[in-house]
Amino acid sequence: MVYGEAGSETLRYFEMASKFLPKSIWTPETIVTSFIVEKAEGSYLVDVEGRRFIDLTSQWSTNNVGNVNREILEAAIEGLKQYGFIIYSLNLHKAVFDLVTELLRIRPSNNLTRVALELSGTGAVDAAVKFAVKVKKRPHIISFLGQYHGYYTGTLGYGPESADARRYFENLYGNAAILLPYPDSYRRPEYMNCEEWGKFIIDYIEEWVLKYQAPPDRIAAILFEPIACEAGVWIPPDSFIYGLKKLAGKYGWFLIADEVMTGFGRTGKWFAIQNWNIDVDLMPLGKGISGGIFPIAAVYGSEEAMASEPVEYGTTFGGHPAGCLAAIANIRVLEKYGIVDRAARLGEKVLKKIRDWPERYEIVGDVRGKGLVIGIEFIKDKKQKTRNPESAKIVYLESIKKGVVPLMDVGDWVLRIQPPLTIEEEVLMYAIDVIEDCIKMAEKEFKKV
Ligand SMILES: Cc1ncc(COP(=O)(O)O)c(C=O)c1O
Repeated sequence: MVYGEAGSETLRYFEMASKFLPKSIWTPETIVTSFIVEKAEGSYLVDVEGRRFIDLTSQWSTNNVGNVNREILEAAIEGLKQYGFIIYSLNLHKAVFDLVTELLRIRPSNNLTRVALELSGTGAVDAAVKFAVKVKKRPHIISFLGQYHGYYTGTLGYGPESADARRYFENLYGNAAILLPYPDSYRRPEYMNCEEWGKFIIDYIEEWVLKYQAPPDRIAAILFEPIACEAGVWIPPDSFIYGLKKLAGKYGWFLIADEVMTGFGRTGKWFAIQNWNIDVDLMPLGKGISGGIFPIAAVYGSEEAMASEPVEYGTTFGGHPAGCLAAIANIRVLEKYGIVDRAARLGEKVLKKIRDWPERYEIVGDVRGKGLVIGIEFIKDKKQKTRNPESAKIVYLESIKKGVVPLMDVGDWVLRIQPPLTIEEEVLMYAIDVIEDCIKMAEKEFKKV
């Protein structure tokens, strides 16, 4: 047992978890390897036993400006004092206008002229799809296997993160989504380079989907993640992104870029699509929008997408005043401290330091990233690229034992580094050294077998 020694506070909580929380989350594996957070601050998590951990997750890219960012916290508290809760679908309130004005000021392209507010990333994606389908009056959405848009039944239909997550729910999705492979740069057909792989998928849409599955005038939109983080930090080739843009223009489809995970500086740009300089018609935002202090989400939309006709979307707490004020404060913090450019610089430094790991370690198949979303893929042999859960688990668990908490994609066995964008450089570099030590340890074990 890594954590939760007999009689410890940690174990007591995990025993409660196994009794009172849904089994799906608290698997026996989680129970023996995790810790119980009691406090969070800056780049750190502190557990019930007073241990400090470096947080390389930023709580799944939510706390981009550090855990419990004080400036955002104060703004949210002011919002609560001033408004409590006002429902914006019934009573428009000033905080909505203040936030929409700010979001439009930092918009990635001038064609995005409107903003809908939501509560969660899932809700934002769901709303974007509804805008697309209702405005275009077409039933289908093209989206990609491995993408993640949320676990609710609607969004899981558009982004099947894994086949297992869809088990038993298959019939709830209907057949709205036309699902195609995402051009993962590492696991591509070996006779294609990355650009060819991206082009192949674009050609496949034209040559096969439009001919045999749905004609162009029955497709409302393409929904894509500019970088598929949950899938294991898949960074698509230019041919894919520009190909999607070209197809959407040619057939009058909306392009929907899901920036719930990648938005607000994560990839070293305000929004990940700015790495390719294209404009899109709809863009769901969430997570890092308010620095994790108060839940809120949003969707950018073009005039055509959001002003053609009314579309039903939303939920009671979407556009909560405290969330609006937290999001405004978050934008202010990102700008004031130059955090987005810093994320780009820091990401480059980390990549430079670890880029040769695939040459140096047998168990590391690939290292890839943009800004501060970085993935390390574990494999058993370089030619077959067989996934290596055993080594990945050792690296993950040993890192936590040494006080460094990365993210792990169970299924792909990609270890992810997604720290707060504000993490101190020396703390980040120390954490990378710890992960490397753990890789060395896992490599020794691997060679023994
Ligand atoms: C790209 C993407 N879209 C949507 C979601 C769902 O967001 P939420 O969990 O806030 O509902 C996520 C969550 O990880 C995500 O990564």
